[in-house]
Amino acid sequence: MAEPADLVVALARSGYLTEPRWRDAFLAVPREEFVPPVAWAVPTDGTPPHPIDRQTGPARWRAAVYTDTAVVTQTDDGEGDPATGTGTGTSSASAPGMVAAFLELLDPYPGDRVLEIGTGTGWTAALLSTVLGSDAVTSIEVDDQVAGQASVNLGRIGLFPTLITGDGALGWKRGAPYDGIHVTCGVREVPLPWVEQTRPGGSIVLPWVPGFNHGHQVKLTALGDGRAVGRFAGGSTYMLMRAQRPAGPDFDGGGWREGATPLDPRRVTHAAPGAHVTISGMVPDVQAHGAAGADGTFQMWVWDGSSQARVAYDPGFERSGVEQRGPRDLWNEVEAAYLAWAGWGRPGRDRFGLTVTAAGHQVWLDAPDNQVAPTP
Ligand SMILES: C[S@@+](CC[C@H](N)C(=O)[O-])C[C@H]1O[C@@H](n2cnc3c(N)ncnc32)[C@H](O)[C@@H]1O
Repeated sequence: MAEPADLVVALARSGYLTEPRWRDAFLAVPREEFVPPVAWAVPTDGTPPHPIDRQTGPARWRAAVYTDTAVVTQTDDGEGDPATGTGTGTSSASAPGMVAAFLELLDPYPGDRVLEIGTGTGWTAALLSTVLGSDAVTSIEVDDQVAGQASVNLGRIGLFPTLITGDGALGWKRGAPYDGIHVTCGVREVPLPWVEQTRPGGSIVLPWVPGFNHGHQVKLTALGDGRAVGRFAGGSTYMLMRAQRPAGPDFDGGGWREGATPLDPRRVTHAAPGAHVTISGMVPDVQAHGAAGADGTFQMWVWDGSSQARVAYDPGFERSGVEQRGPRDLWNEVEAAYLAWAGWGRPGRDRFGLTVTAAGHQVWLDAPDNQVAPTP
């Protein structure tokens, strides 16, 4: 049967867990107390997602608990049944590798006070409490039922961080200032209260998930003047913050405009993450999805709240067909952003950063004054 030590060894080997203090916390906090008896396991090693049931398949359940596996514990905001693998995941015990990566990115000092956004099962709050002490940790969860279960889970192992049920986008002013804000749900726009509630020099770590392919880990430093600035650190995809889930395209029936492009859309979809950061910075709010056909064809869709584009690559043709509708020629914007990135020498994700102010967020390359500006 899988044990906590197996997980720690695997995470150390994969490079997610390097610091002894987090290794000790992963050994001290039994993840099994945070995973429900019946749930949906999503292994990160490519094994297909599958249901887990502690009673009927204890070894499989335990393997999900003590391997690098995300466990979906709620779907459709509580309306669905996670064990069926259908619906949209809305709460989970996040994959341990990603949890370790974010905790190491936060890198708190002894004595730091940390606010977690997205309590979920309470596992991350337990790890933070083990290292910093329960008194130093506040965690906010938007969903009543999830928050209630987290409180039970944490209490069972004798950890009592401050748990708040509410909208984490507002932060928790009563406990401010914090030395760190640790965000465990995907964010498209960084809420300003997090910047205001972080002590100057303190950190905000979060999965920035703008919608164009995967998300990105970012560590911001609050400057005390209304700004938080920092660089991207790696990849990450998290369930989006409730209020920031994108609405589907809302069309008023405008017709398709047809065209063609010499740019192979596969190059855009499968580009290095730096390209996707550039596109998200230059074409804010754009979402994307690509799918390969068995016959060598490839389709890419891009959309925002009002416009949509479809690009079809066919190996038999020199150019890919483009169809666009809505007020924006979204494919043209995406194409221009991709080629701009290529023209800068294809910079890697770690050369990009994000600045957050009251005016919104701004992506930059190498230095905050070198902005990756939205297309006019
Ligand atoms: C991936 S789970 C968090 C995993 C968790 N940290 C753990 O260790 O189990 C994301 C959580 O964020 C919560 N969430 C989404 N939007 C939120 C918001 N606006 N404020 C607070 N929590 C939110 C979801 O309900 C969900 O429980």
